[in-house]
Amino acid sequence: MKSLLKTTLCLSALVLASCAATTTAPTRVLDGSAWPIMTSPTPVDAALERRIARIVAGMTLDQKVGQMTQPDVRNITPDEVARYYIGSVLNGGGAWPDMKKDASVADWAAYSAQFHDAALRTDMAVKIPLIWGTDAVHGHNNVRGATLFPHNIGLGAANDPELVRRIGRATARQVRATGISWVFAPTVAIGEDRRWGRTYESYSSDPQLVARYAQAMVEGLQGDLTGDGDVVATAKHFLGDGGTFQGVDQGENRDTRAQIITRHAAGYYTALDAGVQTVMATYNSWNDVEAGKIYGKVHGSRELLTDVLKGSLGFDGLVVSDWNGIEQVEGCTKSHCAQAINAGLDIVMVPVDWRDFITNTVADVNSGAIPMSRIDDAVTRILRVKMRAGLFDRPVAASPLTGRAEALNADDLAREAVRKSIVLLKNENGALPLTRGRKVLVIGASADSLSNQTGGWSLTWQGTENVNADFGGGETLLTALRTALGDANVTYSATGSGVRVSDFDAVIAVLGETPYAEYTGDVRFPKPVQHSALYPADLAALRAIANKGVPVISVLYSGRPAYANDLINLSDAFVAAFLPGTEGDGIADVLVGGGHDFTAHLSFAWPGSACSTGEHPGDVVQFARGFGLSYSRPALTAPLPLPRTPAACTVTP
Ligand code: GLC
Repeated sequence: MKSLLKTTLCLSALVLASCAATTTAPTRVLDGSAWPIMTSPTPVDAALERRIARIVAGMTLDQKVGQMTQPDVRNITPDEVARYYIGSVLNGGGAWPDMKKDASVADWAAYSAQFHDAALRTDMAVKIPLIWGTDAVHGHNNVRGATLFPHNIGLGAANDPELVRRIGRATARQVRATGISWVFAPTVAIGEDRRWGRTYESYSSDPQLVARYAQAMVEGLQGDLTGDGDVVATAKHFLGDGGTFQGVDQGENRDTRAQIITRHAAGYYTALDAGVQTVMATYNSWNDVEAGKIYGKVHGSRELLTDVLKGSLGFDGLVVSDWNGIEQVEGCTKSHCAQAINAGLDIVMVPVDWRDFITNTVADVNSGAIPMSRIDDAVTRILRVKMRAGLFDRPVAASPLTGRAEALNADDLAREAVRKSIVLLKNENGALPLTRGRKVLVIGASADSLSNQTGGWSLTWQGTENVNADFGGGETLLTALRTALGDANVTYSATGSGVRVSDFDAVIAVLGETPYAEYTGDVRFPKPVQHSALYPADLAALRAIANKGVPVISVLYSGRPAYANDLINLSDAFVAAFLPGTEGDGIADVLVGGGHDFTAHLSFAWPGSACSTGEHPGDVVQFARGFGLSYSRPALTAPLPLPRTPAACTVTP
């Protein structure tokens, strides 16, 4: 869905004002004093609206509330979808057909067809097709055999919207191969605090970059919305998820209205301009401390979900809650929240308690706690999105991509994305590039771990409980180096202990976080955010082989820039690889000479002390956002300062 009028977003002095160049767009200059006034880029289709009105008029209350209910597929059968008039389902992280992690594309397509067919077996006068949502946040990450791309933090370092658009296209194909047509992506959070467990789901702390990427990913995923390789996209999580106090996931955003308008909303303006059809509400709350105004949990905020998003910003698609998000609204439970529906939620993600939710919501309408007009508006929006996506005209399964395993493969694109997303922070003594034929020692548990390479949201929700074989493809950095340098020239030792380093021409230390997702990845204040404090085995492995007269090249897998001066000082070269996904050969392409140079630059500032968590007053920045070396632009890196790491951090001023 192309917006008829693209909009150039020039953010105000609160962020660097440089415009995301687009075509024929009026400039939208934001000074933070007011929400911009926008209109939907999709012209009103009078015939479509009349058709929707006729359908809604013929629906019972049970049927309307069923349309608004989204269970997880693990907790509902296809027959129940029919019986309860369910309009949408999702598979959360770690939900597979028949709970088989190794389910094939054909299994997924057959499983999906069961639910889509069931939705059309209801006794409704007009059958309403189902829409199935999934978190394909770096490729179709639940599905064995799917190429997984670098997580958003790495894509941000590539600074390449066209690459992101192509990734969106490839991801949409992967998703349609499994018979699914709605993706809960892109996350357009502005990551402000490195403590946040979802930092890696943010493209950048730069609203400008996020704005460009939001447009590109939405257009890549949605295409024209009705194509066989198109899916419905979701801008999430509205609003302010990346700016919570001390990076507490689902916590409290204390920013001013101006900061929310000019920073945290930046990705929504361009996503809406690009015609995004769904927006997911955020778990966090907003407390505008400066103005003394408490908006509360966003899931219950009519001012944000309706007055701002659907009013000022002109959004005419649907708002979906987050997983059990309504229970965080004061006075609500997982299965009951009139306030959230009145606030503007159109589809409620009720993974388990969906029966009670239906009962409670019907009762709320009958009691007048929820006006029927709100229910009718929600169902109208749901039907509008489904019709715009062509679901009424053509079954999702009719796509020629359905069931085709080859549609999961995007290895070459992902390999290119990896090359473009890894940042060179240090390169001394000619440590890089490596040359074929040299003897190389590889150390570090992460060197042969697709789990550490792909991070969270990979096969499972947390990205844990996986072994390399579970992925059904992919290439660890170790296997990639064996291919690039010759198997006989590469020796691997996870710990590096007991190895005679002098036998080698170079050592590659692959360091890494272990996978996490959401709040499990939070580094809660006052704990220091220092990689070697969180993962001491990495420091031990590096110490075992450093300073032996053999160049040490460190490659770090991480979902956040964490203080790492101690590791960098022990290395002759240091590469921030973030979470590169399944195609580790993209790293080898750049480490080994004769091919590619580094082109990426940090999309978040890199901390210079263990209690610095971003670009806040008092934070020490070791490498500024935008930093990145290359073979063509080398630079000397003096020994970095090693400030003492306290047992507990104090709040920065
Ligand atoms: C999670 C996440 C959200 C995701 C949803 C469904 O809790 O917050 O990003 O889309 O649940 O998995």
